[in-house]
Amino acid sequence: MKQIHLSPRLQMAADLVVKREQNAWLVDVGTDHAYLPAWLLQNHREQFAYVIATDLREGPLDRARRTAREAGCEQNIDFRLCDGLAAVDPREADSIVIAGMGGETIVHILESAHWKAEWWRGEEGGMEDKILVLQPMSSMPELRKWLQENGFSIVEERLAKEGDTLYTALLVRAGEMAPLSPAELWAGRNCHVPLRGEWLDRWIARTGRALEGMALAQGDGVLPKKRELEDVWKGLQDMKKEWEQWQM
Ligand SMILES: C[S@@+](CC[C@H](N)C(=O)[O-])C[C@H]1O[C@@H](n2cnc3c(N)ncnc32)[C@H](O)[C@@H]1O
Repeated sequence: MKQIHLSPRLQMAADLVVKREQNAWLVDVGTDHAYLPAWLLQNHREQFAYVIATDLREGPLDRARRTAREAGCEQNIDFRLCDGLAAVDPREADSIVIAGMGGETIVHILESAHWKAEWWRGEEGGMEDKILVLQPMSSMPELRKWLQENGFSIVEERLAKEGDTLYTALLVRAGEMAPLSPAELWAGRNCHVPLRGEWLDRWIARTGRALEGMALAQGDGVLPKKRELEDVWKGLQDMKKEWEQWQM
């Protein structure tokens, strides 16, 4: 039997799933190789009552079945070909992972879940003690804004590094959260891991470069955009100072 090893990025997402209580009904959306559910089943079998792995395309689902076969857990995973959560009933899902996709795709998946009306609001055995583990590769401000505007609360954020790239993962539950500042929309909050300082430095550099790029730009929409970005940049600097003080 092949032992599954996760990359730091997927390990970060898996660790957030393992935090929740036992007997979870897990759905891994956009599973591709199914490394995450296979690792969870190999290492925390007792925590999972049922595991579903979905993907939009046959090729990734075939890869997922191969991984599961090699890892000795093919009979424990229900593979479904669908867009996001389209072929998943709300009663089958209490821990949902959506990892390795752009923030817009994650929003599309959450927005178009056919059962969202009753489930996301916590009715009919809905979202209340359920979790989402989201691991966006891009469009993080847009994703956090959508979560904030749609009744979700980001409980915790983690970071992982692979090579020179930093990745984030969000643990999300239903419920109100204090509004995120413009800088928090970009860099997140409730994140207390050692990589946080480096993560903030990168966002400061990125917003700084964007501001430099806008310095000579003209036109109606430029000034408000520039002000918005300046707000983010200043907020990130403050967050970095707070982080440094907290480290001392
Ligand atoms: C880059 S892979 C990520 C695989 C794995 N989740 C990870 O984090 O390593 C993205 C996978 O998501 C699938 N995907 C993209 N959009 C999707 C959607 N709307 N619904 C289901 N799967 C989707 C793709 O087919 C692909 O297999």
